[in-house]
Amino acid sequence: MPVITTKKELDQHLSSLPKNSGLGLVPTMGALHLGHAALVEKAIMENRFVVVSIFVNPTQFDTKEDLEKYPDTLEKDVSLLAGISGDILIFAPTADEIYNHKVQSKTYDFEGLDKIMEGAFRNGHFNGVGTIVETLLLLIKPDRAYFGEKDFQQLRIIKKLVEKNNIPVAIIGCPVIREPSGLAMSSRNERLSEILRKEASSIYKILQAAKVEFGTKNVQYVKDWAVRQFENHPDLKLEYFEISDIDTLTPIQRKKPKGKYRAFVAVYIGGVRLIDNIALN
Ligand code: PAF
Repeated sequence: MPVITTKKELDQHLSSLPKNSGLGLVPTMGALHLGHAALVEKAIMENRFVVVSIFVNPTQFDTKEDLEKYPDTLEKDVSLLAGISGDILIFAPTADEIYNHKVQSKTYDFEGLDKIMEGAFRNGHFNGVGTIVETLLLLIKPDRAYFGEKDFQQLRIIKKLVEKNNIPVAIIGCPVIREPSGLAMSSRNERLSEILRKEASSIYKILQAAKVEFGTKNVQYVKDWAVRQFENHPDLKLEYFEISDIDTLTPIQRKKPKGKYRAFVAVYIGGVRLIDNIALN
């Protein structure tokens, strides 16, 4: 399966495709799992041609250590994609190719969406995500681009980026794919021992139980209750548990009759940082 690494080759491939035939993009950082496979399968169903980018974007990591720990599994990723379809175009550039030897993020105004939750704990993260996603969208010019709802805040911010910069692409959010235990699929799960992986499945169990509590209790009660549940699991170190409006992502104090809310969580387990979220109503 061919892996394209330069913008020039990418351009040659893309310009050989028939015009307006439906092009889907699935941006990834590699270390692919079944969550990515679900995005790729959806993209294949909805488009005639599909590009999967594999690029560990340095500017979205807030620590050098986290970037260095990110798994590089290109060969395995290529065979996973080949098992889905032989027609996928894989774009796996180097950082110098993408950033023209100047690895630096742009600064965006995401109207506050980036100041809370992940943005509050991962300095510069969403400027890095915005920079790479905008670059890929402008290079590839897909009709549709696919992102998982596990990174719900990222998905919301990418929709804002596209809207503010008038980029003609449909941003498609896809449901979280979970392991049979309920643990949200993530490349980071690979760094957990079997015991911790089992323990990490409590994250989703607490989110599900919080959803039940949310049906009858007030917001502060549910937040305090969830914090207590995490305290009962000594291996899980809660970074934040928030209940937010799904559109503004602003943490709420009280429910509104027509409001739509989600609970968001970030947890450390065995030094690995995991995030998850659930629709509450
Ligand atoms: O979600 C990810 O894997 C990354 O943040 C993305 C969207 C591929 C940008 O590097």
